[in-house]
Amino acid sequence: MKLRSIELALPGAADAAAFLTDIWGMAPAAVEGNIHYLRGSGGFPYLIALEDSADSYVRSTTFVCTVERLEQLKRSVSEAGLTAAPVTSDDPGGGHGIIVELAEGELLRFLVDAAEVAPIEGHDLPVKLTHVVFNSADAEATGHLVEEALGFRVSDRTKGMVFVRCNDSHHSTAFARAGFASLNHIAFEKEDLDAVMRGIGRLRDQDMVPAWGPGRHGPGANVFAYFIAPFGPVIEFSTAVNKVPDDYQPGAPEDWTWPEKRIDQWGMSDKDLDGLRAAEEKFRHRRNWEAAPLDA
Ligand SMILES: [Fe+2]
Repeated sequence: MKLRSIELALPGAADAAAFLTDIWGMAPAAVEGNIHYLRGSGGFPYLIALEDSADSYVRSTTFVCTVERLEQLKRSVSEAGLTAAPVTSDDPGGGHGIIVELAEGELLRFLVDAAEVAPIEGHDLPVKLTHVVFNSADAEATGHLVEEALGFRVSDRTKGMVFVRCNDSHHSTAFARAGFASLNHIAFEKEDLDAVMRGIGRLRDQDMVPAWGPGRHGPGANVFAYFIAPFGPVIEFSTAVNKVPDDYQPGAPEDWTWPEKRIDQWGMSDKDLDGLRAAEEKFRHRRNWEAAPLDA
């Protein structure tokens, strides 16, 4: 199972795509109708889809998996009684599978037979998405739900977040203890720390500074720099999160504490809490499909 892409709807999709290609550092993949698709250097046909729309919202977050895993998912999702439907992807790469709505509206799509593309050169392109994080009213409950209904595993719990993995990377998603449901942020994986720092420099050329970072997180141990994108959401330059063994013991909030005044390993930057919070409220989840049997 791998996190592949996120599909957003928003006003000004073309401007958002221009920002992501010209400044953030992505490559155009395709424009189909009113949807702009952008890719990184890796084998996924796209990492982010931007559909022009009157409102901003999250359409889906897409994972790719094996046929066997999809069959398991159909059974466990049906048993958990979640709203779900079979789906055929019209996005680049195609594929088919299911789309699932979690308890707080998060929309996760799982595809098989989705084609990959040849990697491309580009030191300032992201390799892939490393994680997509959601805000939750009850992150603890959602952590339990994705373990039971999706076979994901909780990697760590902190005061702020429940980190969840779907493979051996420490987390591909996480649920923030926010008190409301929305998109928290999208993290683009750069090839190394140097590429993260060059990205910060390129945004500085546009008079954009990180809302938080650079720093190095505790859980996952990734280097990060968060920005508030001109088109609304919080986006992150990140290095890869660390790998964990199958028998990794989840840490508890008391295992992940910081010295006073610290909230990351380096402690070199302030966090724009108000700005980040406002940006995190911009993209809610919106389901525009009806539940249908999964033929589990
Ligand atoms: Fe992150």
